[in-house]
Amino acid sequence: MPEVATAPTTSSEPAAAPHTTPVAPELAWSDALSLSMPVMDQTHVEFIDLLATVQQAQDAELVSRWQALVEHTEAHFAQEDRWMLATGFAPGSCHLTQHAVVLKVLKEGLELGQQGQLQPIRQMAHELTIWFPHHAQTMDSGLALHLKSVGYDPLTGEVSQPDALPAQAISGCGGSCSTDAADVGAPSNEQKKAA
Ligand SMILES: [Fe+2]
Ligand SMILES: [Fe+2]
Repeated sequence: MPEVATAPTTSSEPAAAPHTTPVAPELAWSDALSLSMPVMDQTHVEFIDLLATVQQAQDAELVSRWQALVEHTEAHFAQEDRWMLATGFAPGSCHLTQHAVVLKVLKEGLELGQQGQLQPIRQMAHELTIWFPHHAQTMDSGLALHLKSVGYDPLTGEVSQPDALPAQAISGCGGSCSTDAADVGAPSNEQKKAA
């Protein structure tokens, strides 16, 4: 997640510590976040709703709401990871790796919260409002296009166009975040057969 710069202050009053109190949700669902893949979109709507409840939480509710978000995110990422691994992504590809890294950080926040440190959770919640739209519009968008290109049905796991599966495992993000030669322009099975 991107680091957040502390807002400069022109007041002689000491600046309030950032992200220590409930705030209005900083991220809302919009059509700009839709990836035209209903199952993925629904999961993302739920993620944004849970994140909003975290941002609005009083201290007494913060850790339990964060835990709900972390558990939902674990399932959210696992679902996308399954789709990737079923359609030709390598286990170490960057989208899978980013999921693992982000989930690890969120779990660390949960541990700190359970030890009574609430500020890291509020800080992470703020950073997620910046990270998520970027992730959705790059990596998740690339994944949605890839799944459509191979005719993947997320409900049944069937691939209707297996010839469109990549001949080599995708090590990048399916063209969404990398110029890795193994990612962009890698021939599909169909292209390989035609060659
Ligand atoms: Fe996602
Ligand atoms: Fe993702």
